[in-house]
Amino acid sequence: MTDNDGRERGNSRFRALVLGAAAGGGLPQWNCGCENCRDARIAGSGIVPQTQSSLAVSVDGENWAVLNASPDIRHQLEHNPQLQPKSLRHSPVKSVLLTNGDIDHIAGLLILREKQPLQVFVTSAISQILDDNPVFRALDPEFVRREIISLDQPFDLLPGLTAQLFAVPGKVPLFMEDGEPDTRLEGEQTVGVEMHANGQRIVYIPGCAFIPPSLAARLDGASLVFFDGTVFTDDEMIRCGTGIKTGARMGHMAISGEGGSLEALRSLKIERIIYIHINNTNPIWREGPERDLVNAHGIDVGHDGMEITLGTGAR
Ligand code: MLT
Ligand code: MN
Ligand code: ZN
Repeated sequence: MTDNDGRERGNSRFRALVLGAAAGGGLPQWNCGCENCRDARIAGSGIVPQTQSSLAVSVDGENWAVLNASPDIRHQLEHNPQLQPKSLRHSPVKSVLLTNGDIDHIAGLLILREKQPLQVFVTSAISQILDDNPVFRALDPEFVRREIISLDQPFDLLPGLTAQLFAVPGKVPLFMEDGEPDTRLEGEQTVGVEMHANGQRIVYIPGCAFIPPSLAARLDGASLVFFDGTVFTDDEMIRCGTGIKTGARMGHMAISGEGGSLEALRSLKIERIIYIHINNTNPIWREGPERDLVNAHGIDVGHDGMEITLGTGAR
């Protein structure tokens, strides 16, 4: 271990911390009485409440980047001591990156408005969404610096942690839909994040409509992939009576079935895969055949507070 370039100081380990494993709405969702949401309100039921979509990453354990700022970020920071202030006015959270403009990924920015230096990384399309919604002017640009990131261009997410954004098939945010949206759009509105540190590679994709060959090639050989686990079956919300939309209509490929992520990921060489952005209706939240099928594919179900430290064998 050297101290020369600041990148290999004592505690240098690439780590990822699931701040929120649930999709938009969380588990339980405020207006939902589905089986999972009901059980999540009962202590000891086996279903533990989960907050909305966010991941934190670090290479030194002291400075963290938050990928997606969920409306639950205040709760998430308070429940993960690594992310709490170490002095009077301080935060280990140095940067925030947004992978799309959905409410579950951007609303938390408003919680981070208290004149704390912060770098926000976004594509120009996602930046435009923030500009179009004047409430985000609450983030004082003197403290919150926004950096526009081009697709496929490396940048420093944190010192010693290089990242790249890449297009992932998806759609515009729900609140911007005007008629029938293109749900398989590839551009700057929905992105994934590829991160490199210490010779390891983590890929984070909380929303994905399908896996084109270029994306499969990118995922192949990764150390760790966090992948869209919104719905188990495409028509899950319709079948359980909570909604009228399929996963495909929401820009999320299902886990199971033809064209599902289990099928698409099974031929790839990925050391570890964890489902995140899991909707409250998804049966993988509970023990049963659906979770067994996921586990049989060597894939884990993410949960709040799950921390992975690469290179130590820790799980
Ligand atoms: C999604 O991931 O589909 C969105 O978060 C939906 C929403 O904004 O409610
Ligand atoms: Mn979402
Ligand atoms: Zn529910």
